[in-house]
Amino acid sequence: LAQLGSRIEFPELQDKAYLAHAGISPLSTPVVNAITGLAQSLARQGAGAIGPILEMRQNLRQKLGQLLHCSPQDLALTPGTSWGVLAIAQNFPWRSQDRIVLFRGEFPTNVTPWQQAAQQHSLQLSYLEAEDFRQSKGLELLERELQKGVRLLAVSAVQFQSGLRMPLEDIVQLCRSYGCQVFVDAIQACGVVPIAPQHLGIDYLAGGAHKWLMASEGCGFLYVAPERQSDLRRHWSAWLSHQDPIRFLFEGPGELRYDRPLREEIQALELGSSSAFSQVALEASLTLLLELGIDKIFEHVQHYLDALEPALVAMGFTSRRSRQARSGILALELPQGVKAAPLAAQLREHGIHVSTPDGLLRIAPHWPNCPQREIGGVLEAFSRVLKSYRKTQ
Ligand SMILES: Cc1ncc(COP(=O)(O)O)c(C=O)c1O
Repeated sequence: LAQLGSRIEFPELQDKAYLAHAGISPLSTPVVNAITGLAQSLARQGAGAIGPILEMRQNLRQKLGQLLHCSPQDLALTPGTSWGVLAIAQNFPWRSQDRIVLFRGEFPTNVTPWQQAAQQHSLQLSYLEAEDFRQSKGLELLERELQKGVRLLAVSAVQFQSGLRMPLEDIVQLCRSYGCQVFVDAIQACGVVPIAPQHLGIDYLAGGAHKWLMASEGCGFLYVAPERQSDLRRHWSAWLSHQDPIRFLFEGPGELRYDRPLREEIQALELGSSSAFSQVALEASLTLLLELGIDKIFEHVQHYLDALEPALVAMGFTSRRSRQARSGILALELPQGVKAAPLAAQLREHGIHVSTPDGLLRIAPHWPNCPQREIGGVLEAFSRVLKSYRKTQ
C-alpha cells in the first residue's frame, strides 16, 4: 500500500535518494502497470480499445478537477505545459499595443510564447524580477506596472530554479483590481503544493505530468476560467473542435461535414488524437496522489527539507528556500569554488540524484522519500564529495 515515505511502489528505482522530482519523476508500479495494460489491450484489440480509452480520459479530467478543485468542464487535456501557454498566447483576443507582464527568472516556456504573440500582434512586454517577490517590494513594483494598464500577467506558481512560491493570492487580487488577467504555469506546484485556480481567481493555468504529478511526458492540462472561455479566439481548431466531432466515424452516410459549429467548451482545444499512454499514466498517478492527499504530501516534503537544509547550510551552502513561501524545492548556492554540475555528477555516484538548473543545486524530494531512511546517507555523500572536491582544488 502506498504510504508517505515508502518506496514500495518504486521497486526499480536505482538511486538511494531520488531528489529530482522538479525535473522528471520516476514511475511507480501502478503507473507502469497502467501503461503496459493499455499497450496490451491495444495489441489485442486495436480500435476495439478506444471505448475504455475514452472512459479513461473522462476519469482523468475528473481527477484533474479534484486536484485543482475545479469543474472538469473547465479543463482541456494537452500534451504539456508549453502547449497550454501557447494555446492561450495564440488564441487570446489581443488588441494591438496590449501590455503583458512577464518575470525574469522564469522557465522559458512562460516567456517564449508571449514574445511570439507580441511580435504577431504588436504587444508590449515588460519584465519584473521574480526574486523581488520574496518581499513586498515585488507587489509594489507590480502595482506600478499595472497603473500603466496591463492586459495579462504570466507567472509560474513556483519558480523552477529557486523554488520560490509566488504570492499568487496577492498577485491575482492586485491584477483583478486593475482589470488585468492572470496566466499561471503550475507545473512546479501541481502534485506537491495545493493550488485551486478558481478559488484564487486565476484566469488560465497550465501544467504537465512528468514532474510532481509523477507520470510521463506527453500529457498536461489547461484550466480556463468559465468566464474567459467564450472570449478566446478559435484560431487553433481541428477535427475534435467541432460539435459532434466523431459522429461521422460511426454513423452516416451524410455525416461527413465541414460546417459543424466549433464547440463552445474549452475541450475544443483538444484538437485531435492524443497520447493515451501518457494520459493513462497520469490517471494512475493521480489516483495515488489524491489518495495520499496533496496537503499531506506538502507537509511530508517540508519535513524532509527542514531536516536537510540546516545541515547543508552548515557545510557551506547558501539556502534560497523562503521561510514563508515554501514549495517542494530546496535550491542551494554552492560553497566558494564548488561547481554545481560536477558536484551533482559525483553525488550521483553515491546514489544521490539532484539537479542543477543554471548553476544552482536543486533538491526536490516527493512523497516516497523518507527522511529517516535517507537523510543520513545524503549528508554523508555530500560531506565525502565536498572533501574529495576540495582535495583536488
Ligand atoms: C516552470 C516550468 N514550466 C514548464 C516546464 C516544461 O514545460 P513542458 O511541460 O512544456 O515541457 C518546466 C520544466 O522544467 C518548468 O520548470
